[in-house]
Formats: sequence, structure tokens, C-alpha cells
Amino acid sequence: MSAVNQVQPATQRSTNVVLVGLMGSGKSSVGRTVAEGLGLEFADTDAMIVEEAHRPITEIFADEGEDGFRRRETRALESLTQRQNLMLATGGGIILRERNRQLLRQLGFVVWLTASIDTLAYRVAQNRDRPLLHTEDPKQKLLDLMTTRQGFYEDVADLTVDTTDLTLPETVHGLVESINYHFACKS
Ligand code: S3P
Repeated sequence: MSAVNQVQPATQRSTNVVLVGLMGSGKSSVGRTVAEGLGLEFADTDAMIVEEAHRPITEIFADEGEDGFRRRETRALESLTQRQNLMLATGGGIILRERNRQLLRQLGFVVWLTASIDTLAYRVAQNRDRPLLHTEDPKQKLLDLMTTRQGFYEDVADLTVDTTDLTLPETVHGLVESINYHFACKS
């Protein structure tokens, strides 16, 4: 067998699922429920970072800047590269670094959860834990972030799910079906 044949694309051999998307897209809540349904272990890069830093994300941003937080995201992804049967929710900006985009693709089947800006703004309105949304106009900020990031999400995603008109159970159901189909096709 040639060296080229021996190296399969990661998406054809991994049993992991990775969720990417803007803040408010539902990565953590959807990911946790889908993981239960599929018998996958659940992990969340934000939670991993908070646990390692012993500080909330707002403090990490204040102490180390966004760059420091992004470096921590890379380390979190690197620590997972040998894992299997994992459902991984990620922070909304994880796709900004090229290294992270490589790692995300390598980790597994990548699903981009998206929604309209109005829907995202509504979903994040009650939560003060997101330093990038500590602005006068969080909805405009989400729009700016979507404009900057959309191409990166498209770049890493194997599947895109627009949850604007979906309830959580509908999103979970659709995702379980799609993931089962994806892994059945590979086996
Ligand atoms: C961020 C999203 C947050 C968190 C941090 C930065 C971003 O995660 O990683 O506040 O840059 O979009 P969620 O997308 O889970 O809210």
C-alpha cells in the first residue's frame, strides 16, 4: 500500500463529533443531549479551559487578553487528538486560528450549528459570561462576528444545521439522525 493510501482523511476514521458555531448557537446544550443519545462522552473546550485556569473566561480575557484565551483553546484541542467516541462543543471563536481549524478537522466530523442573528441575540441575552458581548450593542457584535467568521465555519464544517426555526428536541433529533447516517456510511 502506498503512503498516500495509508493516510486516511481524519473524517473517515474518527468516531468523534465536533460542534462549532457562534455564541448562542446551542453547541453545549445540543452537544450534551446528542452525546447522551449516541453514547458519546461529552467535552467542552470552554469548560476544559476554565478548569485548567481555575478562573472564569471573563477573567482569562482580562488577564491574558483574547490571544491568551486562543492559545488555551489550541492546547485544549491538542490534548484531545488521541480521543475517540467524543462529542466536543467548542467556543465560538475557536475557528479563528488556522492551527485550530486543522485540529478540528483532524478530530472528527465537524457540525456547524448556526441561526439568525436575532435568534442568537435572544439566546445569549441573559448570560453575562461572554466577554466579547460586553458591549453596548451585543446584536451588532454578533453580526460583526458572523461576518468575520462565517467563511471559517464553512471551511471546517462537514455539515451545517440552521437551528433558527428548530426547538432543542428537533435539533437533537436531526443531529442524531445525521450523525448516525454519517458513521453508517463510513463503516
Ligand atoms: C467566544 C465564545 C465563547 C467563549 C469565549 C469567546 C467567541 O464560547 O469561548 O467567550 O469568541 O465567540 P461560546 O460560543 O460557547 O459561548
